Amino acid sequence: METIQFVHMTDTHMNAPGRDLWDVSMTEKAKRIFQDVKASGYKPAFVVITGDLAQEGNLEDYAYIRKLVDEGSALVGAPVYVTLGNHDHRSPFRAGYLGEAPSEGPYYYSTTVGGLRLIGLTSQVPGEETGFGFIDQKQLDFLAEELKTTAPQGTVIAFHHPMLKIVDIAAKYNLTNAEEVSAVLKTGRDIVGVFAGHVHSNNIGHYDGILNVAAAGSTYVGRRIGDGLIGGHNFCSYNLVTVTNLQATVQTIILPTSNEEFFRVDMTYFAD
Ligand SMILES: [Fe+2]
Ligand SMILES: [Fe+2]
Repeated sequence: METIQFVHMTDTHMNAPGRDLWDVSMTEKAKRIFQDVKASGYKPAFVVITGDLAQEGNLEDYAYIRKLVDEGSALVGAPVYVTLGNHDHRSPFRAGYLGEAPSEGPYYYSTTVGGLRLIGLTSQVPGEETGFGFIDQKQLDFLAEELKTTAPQGTVIAFHHPMLKIVDIAAKYNLTNAEEVSAVLKTGRDIVGVFAGHVHSNNIGHYDGILNVAAAGSTYVGRRIGDGLIGGHNFCSYNLVTVTNLQATVQTIILPTSNEEFFRVDMTYFAD
């Protein structure tokens, strides 16, 4: 096997211009990431954005995000794939981003670029905008079928909610059927790892022996700030993932921001 790289972005939380989350343009940050990939000379096989593409996610937002993604794709010379997060909405995504008829069905796919296979699944649950993730049976059946074959450079799995059990964050905010998903993943013979987001901090470890990378993303990073509080601070990062012989090396590239505090929340919010 050769060495192959891909770029992992997540939690871009973009809206169409004029409707940003705070007084910081999240779309500008996403553009800066594409520019940084290009300027750094990286040649990723693909870019994957693992959900919370949009902050609110209406038709206008997704049409705008699609334009931005297409420009980013052209800039870095690689296809860009996405998965949906809890902030995303399926029907406007289908219409505005994919240009298809609106549908509340899950968005999932398998594609192979340069021998590296990417399987994207939807862990977003309609109506659960701040909560848990779940991968439905239809997608598990699709995953099982896909994993009957292998890809020359291995298989990367992407969805929004991590399987990891993360300190400070109750399992109820992550993937609630991780055991079920893991059982299917274990039928695969070429899994590199699962790449996710949602938790707005870098959490890298194993779930049931499977590498699970939850990336911090490009909106804010959460950390303890004392007095039982978690602060959400302006942040902009992406991960460059290098795959050799089915093993991943994850490099987090942090772009400068003011790092100001966007919000603070009581830690009990994330507790069981
Ligand atoms: Fe997010
Ligand atoms: Fe999320």
